[in-house]
Amino acid sequence: MSTEIRSKRLTTRDIRARKGDEPLVALTAYTTPIARLLDPHVDILLVGDSLGMVLYGMETTLGVTLDMMIAHGGAVMRGSARACVVVDMPFASAQESRELAFRNAARVMAETGASGVKIEGGREIADTIAFLVARGIPVMAHIGLKPQAVHVAGGFRAHGRVEAEAEAIHADARAVTEAGAFAVVVEGTVEPLARAVSEEIAIPTIGIGASPACDGQVLVIDDVLGLFSDFTPKFVKRFAELAPEVSRAVAAYAAEVRARAFPAPEHCFGLGKPKGQG
Ligand code: KIV
Repeated sequence: MSTEIRSKRLTTRDIRARKGDEPLVALTAYTTPIARLLDPHVDILLVGDSLGMVLYGMETTLGVTLDMMIAHGGAVMRGSARACVVVDMPFASAQESRELAFRNAARVMAETGASGVKIEGGREIADTIAFLVARGIPVMAHIGLKPQAVHVAGGFRAHGRVEAEAEAIHADARAVTEAGAFAVVVEGTVEPLARAVSEEIAIPTIGIGASPACDGQVLVIDDVLGLFSDFTPKFVKRFAELAPEVSRAVAAYAAEVRARAFPAPEHCFGLGKPKGQG
């Protein structure tokens, strides 16, 4: 790929056009420095409402607010130049009515500069997706395991094992595609269903716990780096173990401060010359 093309930010149309091409690479990002590190390697940076759990210590994503998503969305935009940045619509910001969804999504787009929003839901949210897309807001849908509906679903579990559930997810995939979504996250779904959905619908499926049959993959960055250890779902692969490294560095810093070994002379301003010199 030429430098000229790589320096241009990927659009939601580019992402949509990648269906059937090489797999799309997506990761969550919530801050400017992490976005800077990920941007050269990924196609999509998702500012997921998972930030409520991994950054803010919440037990679910339900307590995340629109203002939090806008603040982190702006931070990720400032740290990226190439990836398509998509910001999650948090719980209750898009479900009540399509008008409310539009007002909230418009704030996300205007105040962060992101390329699109992600909304959890299938058939029940398809009408809202169509409303937003018709008014200039690109939407990524999210079906299968929907963390914002965790209390209705009875916990975080794989979806689509029983036929009725598989058919419902398939119908959700068709509905969000017809509504104009540019891509769809398929979460926590058995392989045969993820494969069938990916083969049938015309937009890219971005899998998380949904097998390599999807058109792309997304993971939570803190899981990938081994920084989040409250629980590790089966579908997570840790590509690094940074938590012990952070503990080691912080323990070394604490020991040096307590021993007055840090700061050393090279870290100090205006130190007097040691006695006996000059
Ligand atoms: O909130 C999030 O990070 C997500 C991804 C895990 C898909 O929705």
